[in-house]
Amino acid sequence: MQAGYERVAGAYQRARGSSPQELAALADFADRIAPAGTVLDAGCGAGVPAARYLSTERGLRVTGVDFAVAQLALARRSVPRATFLQADITALDPAVFRDGMFDGICCLYAIIHIPREEHAMLLATFRRLLKPGGMLLLSTGDGAADGDIEADWLGAPMYWSHYPRDTNVQLVRDAGFDLLWERAIVEDAAFGGGVHLFILARAPLG
Ligand SMILES: C[S@@+](CC[C@H](N)C(=O)[O-])C[C@H]1O[C@@H](n2cnc3c(N)ncnc32)[C@H](O)[C@@H]1O
Repeated sequence: MQAGYERVAGAYQRARGSSPQELAALADFADRIAPAGTVLDAGCGAGVPAARYLSTERGLRVTGVDFAVAQLALARRSVPRATFLQADITALDPAVFRDGMFDGICCLYAIIHIPREEHAMLLATFRRLLKPGGMLLLSTGDGAADGDIEADWLGAPMYWSHYPRDTNVQLVRDAGFDLLWERAIVEDAAFGGGVHLFILARAPLG
């Protein structure tokens, strides 16, 4: 996975569009975070649109994390005010990524590349990292993929793994989040027009 995203970083940045529904979801997420709040962009890729919107347009303090160095290099150029760190989001160092340090976490189109058996653990990590009342914006699969591999995706082999829609929603609830909404969002037509399930959820207050 990491090698794939090192190789396709430039092509991904050129191909990545953003649909109006995706931008509306990001705006809804940002509206619920206090001014200058802290946000983790988990699997941030090239930082556009999410990190750039949240940092540059909304003034939030964004930390982007990705394991692909090539993606982070692009993100640093596009979003100079954010902090970008190289890490595997399934193995974040608890000494750096401390309990309750973020007001919000967005994770767009990244969990779908992680084996689905690990999704519950990753959601538990997100819950741990959020302050009480913190917001999660997650995009995951709208249908199931069980380790599907595409031999040539933008020039590298790519891997997808996620449960069906209802299971994905339940996993977020089981991690202790309160769901605000879930909706299928069609990605930008130029990027393939695939359908992803977006979930906006809140960590409980107490
Ligand atoms: C489809 S891209 C999405 C990037 C960005 N969130 C966006 O919306 O354009 C998936 C990103 O997740 C990163 N990624 C996948 N698994 C990861 C992991 N376990 N740890 C860190 N980054 C990961 C990849 O390197 C890639 O940059």
